[in-house]
Order: sequence, then C-alpha cells, then structure tokens
Amino acid sequence: MAPASLLLTRVAAATVAVACVVALGAMAQQLSPTFYDASCPNLQSIVRSGMAAAVQQEPRMGASILRLFFHDCFVQGCDASVLLDDSATLTGEKNAAPNANSLRGFEVIDAIKSQVEAACPGTVSCADILALAARDGVNLLSGPTWAVQLGRRDTRTASQSAANSNLPSPSSSAAALVSAFASKGLDSRDLVALSGAHTIGAARCASFRSRIYNDSNINAGFAAKRKQICGPQSGGTDGNLAPLDAMSSVKFDNGYFRDLVSQFGLLHSDQELFGAGVVDSVTARYARNGAAFSSDFVTAIVKMGNISPLTGSSGEIRANCRKPN
Ligand code: HEM
Ligand SMILES: *[C@@H]1O[C@H](CO)[C@@H](O)[C@H](O)[C@H]1NC(C)=O
Repeated sequence: MAPASLLLTRVAAATVAVACVVALGAMAQQLSPTFYDASCPNLQSIVRSGMAAAVQQEPRMGASILRLFFHDCFVQGCDASVLLDDSATLTGEKNAAPNANSLRGFEVIDAIKSQVEAACPGTVSCADILALAARDGVNLLSGPTWAVQLGRRDTRTASQSAANSNLPSPSSSAAALVSAFASKGLDSRDLVALSGAHTIGAARCASFRSRIYNDSNINAGFAAKRKQICGPQSGGTDGNLAPLDAMSSVKFDNGYFRDLVSQFGLLHSDQELFGAGVVDSVTARYARNGAAFSSDFVTAIVKMGNISPLTGSSGEIRANCRKPN
C-alpha cells in the first residue's frame, strides 16, 4: 500500500475508533426499562407491594413519594441525593428550606430497600427504587402507569445549597417556574404536566398562607374556607394541612387543572399556571382533557427521570439509602 493511502486508512480507522468510544459513552448514559430483568427479576413486584401496603395505610403516601422523586431529580439529577441523612461528614438536603418539616416517606423507601436487598443484595440503586416507587404511587391512586427507565446509580454526595436554589418556591411567578424547569431541560408543557402532580397530596399552611390572605386571583369562598385552618400570622397553624387539589386529593386525575381555571389553586405557584398568560392554554387543555394530561404527564416524568443520572461505574449501589457505603 502506498504511504499516502496507508495514512488515510489509519486516519479512517482512528475516526471509526473515536466514533465507537463516543457511541459507547453515550450508551453508558442510556437507562433501560429492562436493566434489572436478569439481576433482580422480582424488583418491580417488591416495590409494587411495598407501595401498595404504604398507600393502603395512608393514601397520601403515594403523593409524598412522588414528591421525593421530584426533589431528588431537580438536585444533582436523579441520584438519590435527597435520601441521604445529615452526618458528621455530610450535609444532606433534608434540611434545605423546601424540604425541612415537609418531605416525607423516607421510611417507606427504607422498608422497600430492605426487601430489595434481601432478594438481590448490592444490585439495585436507591435512585431506581425511588423512580419505581413514584410510578407505583401514582398508579395506586388511579393514575397512569409507565415503563420506568432504570440503571441509575447512587451519589456519594448531596447539596443543600443546590436544593435551596434549584427547587422552585411556592411564591414563584410563572416565568420563574418556566425558567427553573428549562434549566433542567424541561419545557413549559413539561412544567404544566408535571405540576399536575399536585392533583394528589397536601400542603402546609406555611406554604399557602400568603396566597389565601394576599392574592387577589383566588375564589373568595375558597380563601375564606382555608383561612379557617390557617391563621394570618406564622405560628401555631403553620403545620395545618389542606389538599392541593380541592376536588380529589387522593385521586390522580385532572381535578387540579379544573381547580386552576376556577381560581381554586392552593399555592401561589399553582395559580400562576392559569391567569398569568404564560401557560394558560396548556392548563386549560388539561382541564378539558384528562387523557391529554395523563399522556403528557407520563412523557414529562420519564424526561424528568432522565435528568443527569449516574451510570456505568459512576456513583455506587448504596446498601442503606440514608448513607453512602
Ligand atoms: C412547579 C413547581 C412546584 C412547586 C413550587 C411546588 C411546591 C410544592 C409545595 C410548597 C408543596 C407543599 C409542601 C408543604 O407545605 O409541606 C408541594 C407538595 C407536593 N408536590 Fe410540589 N411543587 C412543584 C412541582 C412539583 C412536581 C413537578 C411534582 C412531582 C412531579 C410535585 C409533587 C408534589 C406532591 C405530590 C406534593 C404533596 C406531597 C405530600 O402530600 O406529601 N410538585 N409542592
Ligand atoms: C400580606 O401583605 C402584607 C403587605 O405586604 C404583609 O404585611 C403581610 O405580612 C402579608 N400577609 C401574609 C399572610 O402573607
């Protein structure tokens, strides 16, 4: 072979090799619904029965676990950072402002993790257990189901400051919500669809006090009713709960969007999704069409579950969801 064509062949071979490495790198990032099919065939049924028991005992737990998944994914990606306890060597996220005295359901994840460890030791990440449990919580409260992408690994670190800055506050404007979601690769339709999670669960008075006392875009009778359990000053009533969806807070339906078009949003941020003019048309569509909401919610939560996962040899499979190995 002439030197010139030999050189060209080498360049071509090197190009192919580089392309393969790039493709493998991309593949390593790819999650798959069948990730544990061989290594932990009973995983999905273990998570399902753990969630079924928890939701039967307290329906709200389906909502609490769904929220845990959101608060995990928005901070460093879906890496189970939210599950880490504070310790002498680690500052976790549980005491960040959006989480303190608010996030719940950690014992449910612990109980499921113990059963998964008994069946398949050292195999399944806490991040994946949370993704499955969130799906089952939604489905057990009459919501849709979907194939959960799997193969995430658990972080050894957490970030309280990222939890404080990346999780949107209930006083957010529509523009701020759009931008918080955009910074995670989620568009405004994903924002509205995912906010439909507030069709289940409850909020504390501390989260909706300023809305019921100071917002003008709220149904007057609804505000008066909520004021009965939530006083105007911070203090004794801070922890009192109200359903996020006034119509049906233990049923995953489109009631939340029907609330919003009637100015029955409980959080200021909820009501920003209708009336501010930024995403009104999406909210109105979901209020009319429950099937459209359901299908967009599934698309959006799968997208949310893909935020910066640790894969391959990054991170670890934690033995205890509350602490790094
Ligand atoms: C759009 C921005 C969002 C804001 C500002 C927001 C804010 C809040 C707040 C303030 C609460 C009540 C917390 C308390 O008072 O203790 C809450 C509850 C909840 N959030 Fe969100 N949230 C947002 C998006 C989401 C998303 C995307 C999901 C899930 C996909 C979600 C799921 C939930 C659930 C299920 C509850 C009820 C939890 C329970 O009853 O334990 N939220 N949210
Ligand atoms: C309502 O707004 C007034 C005036 O800004 C403020 O002083 C008050 O603390 C607010 N009340 C609540 C419950 O947020």
